[in-house]
Amino acid sequence: MAIIGTGVMGARYAKVLADYEVADLCTVCDLDEGKAAQVAAEHGLSSVHANADTMLATEDLDAVVVATPDFAHREPVEACLDAGKHVLCEKPLATTQDDCEAMLAAVERSGRKFMVNYGNRHRMNAQRIKQMLDAGELGPLKHLYIRLNEKLAKTATIDWLERTSPTWFLLSHCVDTVRWLTGAEFTEVCAREVYGAVQETLGVRTPDVVSVLGTLANGATIALESAWILPDAYLSPVDFQIELLGARGCIHADLFPHDLQCSAAQRSGAVDYSSDVAGPLGKVQGWWAESVRYFADCLEKGVDPTPSVRDGCAATQVLLAIDEAVRTRGPVPVPVAGDQ
Ligand SMILES: NC(=O)c1ccc[n+]([C@@H]2O[C@H](COP(=O)([O-])OP(=O)(O)OC[C@H]3O[C@@H](n4cnc5c(N)ncnc54)[C@H](O)[C@@H]3O)[C@@H](O)[C@H]2O)c1
Repeated sequence: MAIIGTGVMGARYAKVLADYEVADLCTVCDLDEGKAAQVAAEHGLSSVHANADTMLATEDLDAVVVATPDFAHREPVEACLDAGKHVLCEKPLATTQDDCEAMLAAVERSGRKFMVNYGNRHRMNAQRIKQMLDAGELGPLKHLYIRLNEKLAKTATIDWLERTSPTWFLLSHCVDTVRWLTGAEFTEVCAREVYGAVQETLGVRTPDVVSVLGTLANGATIALESAWILPDAYLSPVDFQIELLGARGCIHADLFPHDLQCSAAQRSGAVDYSSDVAGPLGKVQGWWAESVRYFADCLEKGVDPTPSVRDGCAATQVLLAIDEAVRTRGPVPVPVAGDQ
């Protein structure tokens, strides 16, 4: 396997893949060859590339992880699929309808395996919620509330901040979680954004908060929100909450664990142990590493991984409808996945 894009996420992929016996991390590629060289050095890789086409032409690869910024997934994904490689692509699949259609077509003509990594599906509490919903424990779903917020300090580290928003960076996870848990498509959304804090602090015109009300095809109402302006003093790096209300029961869950609290000179508040913690043999543990190993396992077992390219297209259609609902200030119907 190889990785294209060795920034924050690419480096995390390298750590998991370099220490997984099912996969063999061979090489890495980044437009910034220095970044690729650093990741290669950390894992003892003998080659690095600044160009995906050269990498695909010269390396013997089965599969490639694409971890470039949101708006730059299409080109490397198409190149990899057309070169006959399986692909694991970071979320969101794409930020335009054109890119979705091109990537869907590339997956279908290649016959290769493809997954878009909405890795929160691998959180154990989320999987337990899905089991309870699938078993009908709540009865018909009436309402679902979900929010994913991050700290302003994390927002400040995104190099391509002017080309993303809380909708694409954070709410995309909520949209996929809703579709996956409920098995229902979005039918309509209304949305509002608030500006000010990010612009004043970081000088970039991007929203502080996005807030969405909508409906699902199963008749349930949904409320989603994402903000990326939490203060440094907030009790944990991420605020990820979900509430589900059915006709016969309800579930409240903190999808991010808050039960390991530390007060010390270097940190104060909840400490995340749900991802990136090394186990006794040094292997990275947790939901995110599981999402990466799951893809490698699917390739080895010949199983089609999920979320699929169609799941990625459906989530992007919801996100595009949210952006349109902000612009028009009115309710926007969400097209059935695959329709224009
Ligand atoms: N699942 C999660 O929890 C999570 C968290 C953060 C980011 N992400 C997603 O991961 C992706 C990457 O985000 P990041 O934070 O690692 O970004 P980043 O800016 O840290 O890294 C992106 C890297 O891609 C490189 N790049 C850009 N275009 C390229 C190209 N055509 N060929 C090769 N390299 C190229 C850049 O030089 C950069 O090093 C995004 O889609 C983002 O939304 C997911």
